[in-house]
Amino acid sequence: MENRKWRAAVVTLSDKGYAGEREDQSGPLVSRMLSEAGYDVRKTVLLPDEQKEIEKYLCKLCDEDKMDVVFTTGGTGFSPRDCTPEATMAVATKNAPGIAEAMRLASLKITPRAMLSRGASVIRGSTLIINLPGSPKAARENLEAVLPSLQHGLEILTGRSGECGQK
Ligand code: MTE
Repeated sequence: MENRKWRAAVVTLSDKGYAGEREDQSGPLVSRMLSEAGYDVRKTVLLPDEQKEIEKYLCKLCDEDKMDVVFTTGGTGFSPRDCTPEATMAVATKNAPGIAEAMRLASLKITPRAMLSRGASVIRGSTLIINLPGSPKAARENLEAVLPSLQHGLEILTGRSGECGQK
């Protein structure tokens, strides 16, 4: 139990992807990056930009499937259908804004358009939920910015560590 890998899920939010009009590259990319970092990616799913549907699925991943961490990709921008942050915040039991702030801070060094991602990072119970933007490039850059620091947060969240040591 103590040595088990973190259980992770990757949820792609895209009307076009769901309709089969666009290949989902970001979900597989995020899954690959997580697997390479030692995560146990147990679920990958593609959903349309429907807030209630997203909320329901996020709740299932947290409450029934007991994921340690859920990453979403897509639906964080300004288009009328984008609702990933709203769905994420609706199911949150706690806010964890520092992760989204760190992603935007790192991303702004790459492109000023990073300010256009409204992505959120929250906790539901003992699951961390992190929104990544939708393009493969943006998803990779955002994930790279926070991945090295997540382990410690997950250890505290899941009760494997109670101490907040400096790193
Ligand atoms: N962050 C990084 N690191 N690199 C990028 O290229 N693109 C931005 C932003 N964040 C980008 C980024 C752009 S152009 C948009 S519109 C938003 O993410 C939202 O993306 P989404 O609507 O696909 O979620």
